[in-house]
Amino acid sequence: MSTVTLPSALLEQATAPYRPLGKFAWHFARGKLGGDPAFAGLLQRGLIPARARLLDIGCGQGLLAALLGSLDGHSPAEQAWPAGWAAAPTGVQVHGIELMPRDVARAQQALAHLGGRARFTLGDMCHTDFGRADVAVILDVLHYVNYEAQEDVLRRVQAALTPGGTLLLRVGDAAAGLPFRISNWVDAVVTFARGHRLPRLYCRPLSEWQQRLRALGFAVEAVPMHAGTPFANILLVARLPGAAA
Ligand SMILES: C[S@@+](CC[C@H](N)C(=O)[O-])C[C@H]1O[C@@H](n2cnc3c(N)ncnc32)[C@H](O)[C@@H]1O
Repeated sequence: MSTVTLPSALLEQATAPYRPLGKFAWHFARGKLGGDPAFAGLLQRGLIPARARLLDIGCGQGLLAALLGSLDGHSPAEQAWPAGWAAAPTGVQVHGIELMPRDVARAQQALAHLGGRARFTLGDMCHTDFGRADVAVILDVLHYVNYEAQEDVLRRVQAALTPGGTLLLRVGDAAAGLPFRISNWVDAVVTFARGHRLPRLYCRPLSEWQQRLRALGFAVEAVPMHAGTPFANILLVARLPGAAA
């Protein structure tokens, strides 16, 4: 499994909108977009179609929207697009939902220039309307709520997706031993540092996540998403039947 990273021109462009917000927002954006293999992996594998309506649940300060927004129009990033990657998903409209007011404020401030292509709602995913979407993304979020709430979020995501729609769900594999325990420890520390209480995390083995998604009618593929990290993260690519919009 080799590490996939964003081309540096694209990283520069995607993180530039956070620079005026101060050191924390900008360094955090650079560290996360540059160091987390999920973002490059989504683009490399073409998991987000062009012009999709994308729901980003637990979007933090809007990094995925920033990355997708930086692909639009003619840009230096386009020229540095890696050979072998799927075509750049341009024209994607993002709706981010996030619990933490500071993150939503940062996302709204940094990405105001994207207009209607990036909007952010302050709210709890357990109660916030998901609207309609072609793609839903939940990266490292679902384990913060209890099992019953997870089921309900997944049911509501399934109902919000258009026929042929995709849920991109990254989870830790609770059956993965030490890498899973490292992931959980880092998660707890970062979550505490971001202003949450020390959380109880509601994790499951990979097989159980897959089974829950299949029970909701998704066809599920598991893609390891931890190359270059000591973690046990897996991206579940869950597709609904039907022609994609
Ligand atoms: C580990 S961070 C991941 C952020 C982003 N998805 C990413 O991959 O960069 C988890 C995010 O989920 C948010 N979150 C946790 N519980 C939530 C809830 N019930 N509703 C909405 N957002 C939530 C946290 O505030 C945090 O921003």
